[in-house]
Amino acid sequence: MSIAHGIKQLGVLGAGQMGTGIAFVSALRAKVPVLLHDRSKDQMTKGLTLVDKLLAKDVSKGRLQSSDAEEARSRITPVDSLEAMRDVDMVVEAVSENLDLKRAIFREFGAKLRPDAILASNTSSISITKIAAAVIPEGASAASEQGKAASGRVVGLHFFNPVPVMKLVELISAVQTSKDTLDRSRAFAEACGKEVATSQDVPGFVSNALLMPFINEAIMCLEKGVATRDDIDKTFRLGMAHPMGPLQLADFIGLDTCLAIQQTLYSGTSDSKYRPSVLLERMVDAQYLGKKSGRGFYEYN
Ligand code: CAA
Repeated sequence: MSIAHGIKQLGVLGAGQMGTGIAFVSALRAKVPVLLHDRSKDQMTKGLTLVDKLLAKDVSKGRLQSSDAEEARSRITPVDSLEAMRDVDMVVEAVSENLDLKRAIFREFGAKLRPDAILASNTSSISITKIAAAVIPEGASAASEQGKAASGRVVGLHFFNPVPVMKLVELISAVQTSKDTLDRSRAFAEACGKEVATSQDVPGFVSNALLMPFINEAIMCLEKGVATRDDIDKTFRLGMAHPMGPLQLADFIGLDTCLAIQQTLYSGTSDSKYRPSVLLERMVDAQYLGKKSGRGFYEYN
């Protein structure tokens, strides 16, 4: 028997590509009302425009009735503060990859949201256990009933970009995560139309512990002149049937995001195989961040 996720209202923090995608699949596929918050008004406008575009495309391709698209759109409400999320059953955080920022956000979740709300992070590599430790109320110990209840509802729910297209969600259990939180989070991801793969809370989880050394090696091949950009990517597109070569994929993910993940992997393991290449660092220094900034290993209009 499948477990009910019990999410009647969802909060999503961050209206970038990932947060918007998560809001989209939650509203359209899981049919759950979503409160979407981003501290940048500009980002919120971009996020909602992307939702409208995705729904319009599905309607124009005949995959969605316009009445269903309108209903899905009406399920997404922009809100201008975390206070507005105080009654949600689950929140998914999708802000940039920075441990201190995420810990501060989760501390705020702990203080402002319902004590039984599931607190999920879409982090690609940061320790869910470290994030979970931040929600323990001041004065309570980690092992107390209060501490266990607070941190037991924190979980990693790692979606992949583009969220509407990629079929996987990686489910990561912190040391503290309760079974109920894991079961309901899995059920929610499935209601969003995703398959779930679970991973232990190790740096990068399964996905990025394997993907990032691959991307980094490709950048080092380019740096050393082993092959051209186009030949490196062609090797994987045509030789291994990857939809994108590793350099194009790095641009697509964002070079700053790749660097942040690699730094987390390297500092979390001290394993030299995770050391970011100098070329990646220089690209980020130059603000050549990939597709989102108009230039990375490729140029974009
Ligand atoms: N948002 C939503 N939908 C998108 C999209 C986006 N940004 N980009 C493409 N799509 C949709 C298109 O609209 C199209 O949908 P329809 O079939 O319904 O028309 C479909 O994807 C295919 O797109 P295209 O035909 O334009 O192009 P394509 O066949 O080259 O596919 C792609 C584009 C899906 C992005 C494909 O190149 C691909 O799968 N690339 C690899 C992506 C990947 O590996 N993602 C994971 C990155 S790692 C990550 O996210 C996690 C992390 O921790 C770093």
